[in-house]
Amino acid sequence: MKKTVLVSGGAGFIGSHVSVELAQAGYDVLIADNMSNCDETNYNGVCKILGYAPEFVKMDFCDSEAVDRLFAGHKIDAVIHFAAYKAVGESVAQPLMYYRNNLLSFMNVIEAARKNGGCNVLFSSSATVYGEAEDLPVTEKTGRKPSTSPYGNTKQISEDILRDCVKAYPEIKGIALRYFNPIGAHPSALIGELPRGVPNNLVPFITQTAIGKRECLSIFGKDYPTEDGTCLRDYIDVVDLAKAHVCAVTRMIEGKMKADYEIYNIGTGRPVSVLELVNSFEKVNSLKLNYKFVDRRPGDVVSIYGSPALANEELGWKAERSVEETLAAAWAWEKALAGKN
Ligand code: UD1
Repeated sequence: MKKTVLVSGGAGFIGSHVSVELAQAGYDVLIADNMSNCDETNYNGVCKILGYAPEFVKMDFCDSEAVDRLFAGHKIDAVIHFAAYKAVGESVAQPLMYYRNNLLSFMNVIEAARKNGGCNVLFSSSATVYGEAEDLPVTEKTGRKPSTSPYGNTKQISEDILRDCVKAYPEIKGIALRYFNPIGAHPSALIGELPRGVPNNLVPFITQTAIGKRECLSIFGKDYPTEDGTCLRDYIDVVDLAKAHVCAVTRMIEGKMKADYEIYNIGTGRPVSVLELVNSFEKVNSLKLNYKFVDRRPGDVVSIYGSPALANEELGWKAERSVEETLAAAWAWEKALAGKN
């Protein structure tokens, strides 16, 4: 009997890649999304890659009755919860919108899972919970720092909700995956990142500049205490990241967890500066990018990268793609979007 995995926010950037990897690993995937921050492109891409259409439900996870109906109507073995807002700046301007959406939706998922016989719950967290860490690379034992944005705070609170719920409700098991900086696209160029409006994140800004949608990339800060003066991050390929979810879900479903709640860093352990990333993009794709240095962006940490040792050991997962391969995939996706491939 195939096991069923519900992917909330499954039509988004990471959710669509995870849906593909789950289906290819032999799971039945149930995709649910309210489409508030995406269109049908990625879901259609998922269907093309798989050669069939996984079940899709358009619904809002803040609607507790709808979430309950979804769980009551399917035998769900695990849920991966992505459905959340994710723009740092917007969260500072509209904190209530972020707290309401990100926390309520997650509580509704856990509540519905409980009511319907229990479930394995995988939460999509972020390395933002570490803030500006003193010792790098960070491990799962590194303490969390008070969040500098409501967005980051919703990640911390959601982790706490899951931790507390697995303690109180034996029918719930939980894993939180703390992602570093997910970038890239599927090698088919059929799914990828589709930011609405001006991208906040580095790689979509780079690809949009290269294709001519944006005039010039602004590199935020050149006087950071790093070798080349730009910030260091741990860029993780989105397909590698998606595979980590398959490993984590399988660990839960097969009952191999060592505790009822586990946390894993999902990164490469390899720090890359903004300038290095830009140079690699230019080199691997044989093009020149228009960029300039501007002031630092408020709220940015200087350096954050994580040790993936625990995920390597316990999940049997390892990041495989090089930054160059990932940047080539991101560029292929941008060109496919522009119909230039
Ligand atoms: C940010 C959030 C992180 C969130 C992630 C989601 C913070 C501090 N960061 O990560 O919590 O999980 O997005 O995708 O809350 N940069 C430029 N020019 C640009 C854009 C970015 O120079 O136009 C630089 C930034 O200063 C940074 C690096 O590129 O040094 C990466 O930025 P970005 O892609 O936005 O990711 P983070 O800020 O690391």
